[in-house]
Amino acid sequence: MDQQSARFQEQYTRGRKLVSELGTEGNGPTSFTLLGREWDLVPGTYEPGPGAGAEFYTTALPYPVGGDFLEIGCGAGVTAVWAALHGCAHVTATDITDTAVESTALNVKRHGVEDRVRVLRSDLFAELDPADRFDTVFWNCSVIEAPRDFEFTSDYEWAIFDRGYAALGRYLAEVHGRLRPGGRALVTFNTLGDRNRIDQLAAEAGVSLEMLGSATRQLTDVEVTYMLFEIVSGVRPVVPGGRA
Ligand SMILES: C[S@@+](CC[C@H](N)C(=O)[O-])C[C@H]1O[C@@H](n2cnc3c(N)ncnc32)[C@H](O)[C@@H]1O
Repeated sequence: MDQQSARFQEQYTRGRKLVSELGTEGNGPTSFTLLGREWDLVPGTYEPGPGAGAEFYTTALPYPVGGDFLEIGCGAGVTAVWAALHGCAHVTATDITDTAVESTALNVKRHGVEDRVRVLRSDLFAELDPADRFDTVFWNCSVIEAPRDFEFTSDYEWAIFDRGYAALGRYLAEVHGRLRPGGRALVTFNTLGDRNRIDQLAAEAGVSLEMLGSATRQLTDVEVTYMLFEIVSGVRPVVPGGRA
């Protein structure tokens, strides 16, 4: 987006408000309940509380039963643990922040799936073995565009902001290189972010987005529609809300 535009400023300001309303640095809750389970939370980690997208995505994802699942940006680890509890043979969970990696490790232990989930601190795919391939790769990405020179000052900000959508652009460009033949690449987006920009980034990466499902929830004082997309090779004309 034009980073001078009123729409950019409006979305960025809303992101700042969400960080101040929902972010915790050292003094937040140390556990939460979601999907009928209790979860540990290292303060500073993004909490997928009421109105966040995690509940919808975690239950809507097409998990590769018997296969290998990679979750980028695992946050508290709900989706990664859920994948292991719902038939994935191996799960790799990565996040760029230490608190998310620590939270996910606690939840892997708490829910007894240490034998099939590994947790890594990584910027997208950077710390994976170059030969690692997966049946499904998923990222519930950080959807609000931040200025290109934005300095992250808390782990929570990483769950909200993406500088110039650079991380999302890299994910869209690189994810197919991490799939086994027949594998599936998935990403989320929601109405707090700029939908035109993700379509533009997809086109630049030579891929298209096919909507698999959506759900609308109330997050603090704003209604948010969460969307789950499959990333497919090739650029196709965009049909709002549906397949091209
Ligand atoms: C919207 S949150 C989703 C967290 C969790 N998966 C959930 O659904 O509750 C986005 C996550 O991506 C992580 N993240 C942001 N940029 C990243 C990057 N370049 N590489 C890996 N993880 C990243 C954030 O730290 C955050 O945990």
